[in-house]
Amino acid sequence: MPKTAKSRCVIVAGAQWGDEGKGKVVDLLARHFDWIARYQGGHNAGHTVIIGGRKHILQLIPCGILGGEARAVIGNGVVIDPAALVQEMDGLAAAGIELEGRLFVSNRAQVILPYHRMLELAAENAPGRVKIGTTSRGIGPSYEDKMGRRGLRVVDLYEPELLRTHIENALREKNAVAGALYQAQPLDAGSIYESYLEYSRRIGPYVADTAALLNRAWRAGEAILLEGAQGTLLDIDHGTYPFVTSSSTTAGGGCTGTGLGPTRISGVIGVSKAYATRVGGGPFPTELEGPVADQLRERGNEFGSVTGRPRRVGWIDLPLLRYAVRLNGMESLVITKLDVLDGLAEIPVCVDYRLDGQPLADEIPATVAGLEKLEPVYAKLTGWQASTAGLKRLEDLPRAARAYLDFVASRLELEISLISTGPERNETIWAPHSRLESWLGMERAEQTARS
Ligand code: IMP
Repeated sequence: MPKTAKSRCVIVAGAQWGDEGKGKVVDLLARHFDWIARYQGGHNAGHTVIIGGRKHILQLIPCGILGGEARAVIGNGVVIDPAALVQEMDGLAAAGIELEGRLFVSNRAQVILPYHRMLELAAENAPGRVKIGTTSRGIGPSYEDKMGRRGLRVVDLYEPELLRTHIENALREKNAVAGALYQAQPLDAGSIYESYLEYSRRIGPYVADTAALLNRAWRAGEAILLEGAQGTLLDIDHGTYPFVTSSSTTAGGGCTGTGLGPTRISGVIGVSKAYATRVGGGPFPTELEGPVADQLRERGNEFGSVTGRPRRVGWIDLPLLRYAVRLNGMESLVITKLDVLDGLAEIPVCVDYRLDGQPLADEIPATVAGLEKLEPVYAKLTGWQASTAGLKRLEDLPRAARAYLDFVASRLELEISLISTGPERNETIWAPHSRLESWLGMERAEQTARS
């Protein structure tokens, strides 16, 4: 079938270090799409969605599964721990969410095995190693095996002999390395094989050639949302290397991680908090410590949804957001957690950096040492002494909150299309006549009704 005018493919990507609130955004936008596809990462991600007071944390299955009719795809760029996937499937089934005919798992996605976790834990704790502060889910070692062309893919789970030999051969090497370098206890091939056979039975009904499905859907005029995990500054190429995750979190990963070509992409939506957070080690130029940091952490409930670790917090960083906008080609921005800034008398916004006393042009240092030397230049914006929690209309925002958003938008030369003022779906402000609304295929009347 030829391309119709309705085919749409929009990418939602994190503009910071992850945890920007992409889960809520994807859940909110899901009803405008026929398909929602995750394109990278694994169960290191934790997307929290609150619906009707009930909290759902999704790690592998796209948030779109929770509402509406959209079908959910775990794309080829994802690394899948089948134990985590099965657990998540069971949790959704217990919550009454139907997966049959709605969940599709790429046959080309890589599989995480127990030795990936063993190697990661051992290496992270080894003396003399740079401690990244990973989520200990085996993500890095699994992507290493993928790139080393020795990974196991979902499709291989259905060749029992191949599966057995793969696990035995891999373990021979991994056990030797982990034992010699980190004194780790060896893992047993037989029990891993048995458990993976069982997982393969559970996942089997959902396995598909998802690139073929998505391309067919696109050609049939359907709408596709690609859901990124983590954020731009954790991207394997563009992030604060080596304090990054092991996948392409930026919008480009949306193509390679699903099999949809770049010409299919209609737009890229960035998501940023009204401030900044980071979990794990690595540079964070606007990081805050002390009572204000504690206050933001408490108010924003800034504790990892996967690991429970307290998140580091800081002020919004416009040079790094400009970097993210550029790398992703973002044309629309969602600001989340605006209400967390309520009540502050003054809000510093990092507008520029100085490096060695000189203003920095628009290039961000590539080294950790360079990033750590950056001196943020702050503009002090007036805070709002009022609550924005739960507001739904732009005109109801305090004047200073609107000024804050306008300042961010003008410095980034980017529209702010959505503002989140609380965890629930309806605690959201839609800016009228945004690019986002046109990507959602919303008719003019529906757009006007929002404004
Ligand atoms: P990994 O992805 O587990 O290898 O962890 C690498 C780095 O990315 C660590 O600093 C983690 O804290 C961080 N990270 C991984 N996933 C997420 C996420 O979903 N949100 C925020 N940080 C993450």
